[in-house]
Amino acid sequence: MTPDTQILPGGTWKLGGQTVTRFGYGSMQLTGPWVMGPPVDYDGAIAVLREAANLGITHIDTSGAYGPHVTNDLIRAALHPYPGTLRIATKVGAERDADGGWPTARRRDQLRQQIDENLTHLGLDVLDLVYLRVGNAEGPVPERIGDAFRVLVDLQQEGLIRHLGVSNATPDQVAEAQAIAPIVSVQNMYNLAYRQDDSLIDRLAAEGIAYVPFFPLGGFSPLQSETLSAVAARLSSRPMSVALAWLLQRSPNILLIAGTSSAAHLRKMSPAPASTSQNRISASSTASREKNSGTEIPHRGTPQTAHPRAAARGGRASGSNAVGELPHRRRAHVGTPC
Ligand SMILES: NC(=O)c1ccc[n+]([C@@H]2O[C@H](COP(=O)([O-])OP(=O)(O)OC[C@H]3O[C@@H](n4cnc5c(N)ncnc54)[C@H](OP(=O)(O)O)[C@@H]3O)[C@@H](O)[C@H]2O)c1
Repeated sequence: MTPDTQILPGGTWKLGGQTVTRFGYGSMQLTGPWVMGPPVDYDGAIAVLREAANLGITHIDTSGAYGPHVTNDLIRAALHPYPGTLRIATKVGAERDADGGWPTARRRDQLRQQIDENLTHLGLDVLDLVYLRVGNAEGPVPERIGDAFRVLVDLQQEGLIRHLGVSNATPDQVAEAQAIAPIVSVQNMYNLAYRQDDSLIDRLAAEGIAYVPFFPLGGFSPLQSETLSAVAARLSSRPMSVALAWLLQRSPNILLIAGTSSAAHLRKMSPAPASTSQNRISASSTASREKNSGTEIPHRGTPQTAHPRAAARGGRASGSNAVGELPHRRRAHVGTPC
């Protein structure tokens, strides 16, 4: 199948001078339970990654901490030698412990080791984009990140990294990193039910810097609500497509890395080049129709809203994946994905 990026929703974005499709793929869901160990269905995981490439997706998000090393090994097994258009973004700053936890690992030696491991497992000489992932389980933490970020700048100057970003960061931490070296992207939690970063997104857009929302579909508790379903029904679309379309129309610097362990779900989220039918919904056209119809999806992204990851960990019934009256589908998980 020949990839056809023309029909992927959202078009493209220059990520540090490298063109990527705004409709990307996040690989975290490919591991075993709790983002630990190999996938339950190895062939199925390989198929998802090859489906992403066949759809024309040129931006894949990963981390050495996923598995650990599982998603990087899968990406290499499925796609190496990589198409020249493919950009793989990875994250460093945390590692995994035996209990599946995500302890911070931001010392110089730890960061260098994580970069070396990402290069080895992905089969690359240089990493396209590396995020310094900061914060903790509850989300961003207002602490200095300059020392750790300078380590990545040093590794960039050694030629191991093309572009830098920060993840799970406060606006002040984003500015702190920018005062040290240019960044091309920020990857933070954001979706139509959790909108804490609205002003940061607008600032980054004005500066030509990408904003990559993680948990774009709500993460381990995928977004579900009568409101979202009603909007999807009115647009002859699907709830997940509407959630992604809403992000695409929110700001041109938003790049999607929606996650799934299912090739079928990936196809449903994005029209497939070889099998586009009249019934298949384009998220970009859904987005423009939603905008034109004046649809406003309510949200609860107020300062009082608990970070969804904290809510999920605590098993609270009132986690903030709610869109209006949104009920949840929950999955138990250990620790904090990054
Ligand atoms: N920087 C950070 O700290 C951080 C933290 C978390 C994640 N991330 C990155 O962000 C990416 C996206 O996050 P995520 O994958 O955790 O969450 P997500 O994209 O918000 O949602 C993934 C969930 O949605 C479900 N889903 C996807 N398509 C669906 C469909 N058509 N119908 C029903 N359910 C569907 C998936 O289940 P199925 O597998 O069954 O489809 C999965 O449970 C990750 O892959 C990772 O690369 C970064």
